[in-house]
Amino acid sequence: MDYSLLWLDWKRKSSLPAYTKRIVGMPATRQGKAALRELLNGLKAMGADSELCSGSDGCPSIRLNECPGGGEKAELHRSGEGLALIGSGRGLIYGVFYLLRHLALGEDYPEWESSPAYPIRMLDHWDNADGSIERGYSGRSFFFRSGRPVCTARTRDYARLLASCGLNGCCINNVNVHGSALKLLTGSYKRELKRIAVCLEEYGVALWLSVSFSAPMELGGLATADPLDPEVRQWWQDTSRQLFSAIPNLAGFLVKADSEGRPGPHSYGRSHAEGANMLAEAVSPFGGKILWRCFVYNCTQDWRDTETDRAKAQRDAFAPLDGQFRENVFLQIKNGPVDFQIREPVSPLLGELEHTSSILEFQIAQEYTGQQKHVCYLLPMFREVLDQQMGRRADRDLVAERISAVCAVSNTGDDPNWTGHDLAAANLFGFGLLSWDPSAEPEAIAREWSILTFGGDPEVTDTVTDILLRSRSVYEKYTVPLGIGWMCVPGTHYGPSPEGYEYDRWGTYHRATHREIGVERGPGGTGFTEQYSPALAGMYASKETCPEELLLFFHRLPFDYRMKDGRTLLQRIYDDHFEGVEEARAMSDAWDRLEDRLDPAVFARVRARFREQLRSAAEWRDVVNSWLYRLTLIPDEKGRKLYL
Ligand code: GCU
Repeated sequence: MDYSLLWLDWKRKSSLPAYTKRIVGMPATRQGKAALRELLNGLKAMGADSELCSGSDGCPSIRLNECPGGGEKAELHRSGEGLALIGSGRGLIYGVFYLLRHLALGEDYPEWESSPAYPIRMLDHWDNADGSIERGYSGRSFFFRSGRPVCTARTRDYARLLASCGLNGCCINNVNVHGSALKLLTGSYKRELKRIAVCLEEYGVALWLSVSFSAPMELGGLATADPLDPEVRQWWQDTSRQLFSAIPNLAGFLVKADSEGRPGPHSYGRSHAEGANMLAEAVSPFGGKILWRCFVYNCTQDWRDTETDRAKAQRDAFAPLDGQFRENVFLQIKNGPVDFQIREPVSPLLGELEHTSSILEFQIAQEYTGQQKHVCYLLPMFREVLDQQMGRRADRDLVAERISAVCAVSNTGDDPNWTGHDLAAANLFGFGLLSWDPSAEPEAIAREWSILTFGGDPEVTDTVTDILLRSRSVYEKYTVPLGIGWMCVPGTHYGPSPEGYEYDRWGTYHRATHREIGVERGPGGTGFTEQYSPALAGMYASKETCPEELLLFFHRLPFDYRMKDGRTLLQRIYDDHFEGVEEARAMSDAWDRLEDRLDPAVFARVRARFREQLRSAAEWRDVVNSWLYRLTLIPDEKGRKLYL
């Protein structure tokens, strides 16, 4: 095997509970059988001498009880001196992985009765048919090779990884559908897609496809893709029928329409609701769903236009349509109003929809957060979003309660360690756990992931957990200050370029002069704050109550603005950049001290990434600080050398 099994590489245990010796139960379904196989293989790898028995004979055992139906609930109960695991085939899979994880952690009787918080918990791959991955930082696609979908042994191990952390779906192709990926909708690759779908299905993972809104023209030869045109509607209905009947386990389509140049209903004077509903109608007879992305904004803005505010675009486009979407449409909303920056407020659209289902979109591919060369554990950020109170209603007001589903842009590729940076796998594992239970604790997740991945040496667990928990704030300090965003190299989005996006068309401006920086988004500015409930709007609109880490997202401020601790804004930014680099160095040193405790190859890989992180962090510090110094001519109060 030319790749690792990540947290599923079960380590040998010095002792295991007696009940691991006997496994009782013969699941009937394919998924139930997979659960049993995982249990036997997992226990064997941990060193148990397990036997599959027809009865317990009064001895402690693990009894698998497969219930009919396809629900996802899993129950793990103490039964005499043993355990009973109860669930449908899929429930058994989740229960088995839960049990194995807890045995690996050394927990003896892990009682558990759990259902996932959301019925859809998926990864979005931005894989292209030619094998490249848009914003991919861990090699090439393992779903596509030379223009065709492929199903390999790795597909199955990928499905196992997903199921083991509670995920149940994946969209295998890029939302920017192009090249031969267009043809996934036609018969051309049916056989390959079916193989992938069947393989994923064994572990309860559904297959989704990204589709192009203008497919009726691109593939069907029609003159239009107007969603109200009868021929277009018929084309989608016929195409869906053929696809869903050929591919079991196909869950639906993901659509990026009228966004960043993608085709969509607006070209025909139709609304997003008319576009999404036309597709929803086509897939509805097969139980299919449409995930319709809300990442819609003017990407041809003139930088001199100070009226348009990109942050306002999504709520403006979609809130008025609430209630117009069919039941099987989910609006897919990025966590923040702009684009996966290291710090953004929660998207106000998440507070708006009362009659439309939504799917929250995170990005574990670290496009703006170090591209899997820097360590940046994203779970604390995800929890902040899920825990945000929107102030719209008395009950079900938390983001976690308002949404109906979750997804994340995947950080995987065909690198031997799947995620490029070994520590980035914590984001994959953690996103899965959080999608099952949005109240899961980032620290507990980090600890568990570390133990499963690196073994139980407490020194390793403590160090890795500490690095992960500190990593986001460290990255934030040496890169982009106080929520202002961007300042990265245009196009690649790696490395510093404070004015890189200033005179471009993307609507991402900080408009710094020698006196001040930032866009005023309160009522006296673009009015973005008004998109929130009165409680949040008031908090963000006032400089005094706006959380400091978001100060420059919401406000335009002079460089001598006094922060709460008395420092000037400029000094705070200088300090953060110096501190960020020092803290990155401390994380890297802490890793170096683990040398004798880790597999040499893993140790060396991560060390090499830390070297790059330190180089890049120093570059960010020097470029941002010297740019600000040149602009303001105000030196560092502590007399440190600003790179000149
Ligand atoms: C970002 C990213 C693009 C991607 C887009 C999206 O802008 O840079 O590569 O296509 O998000 O989410 O659709």
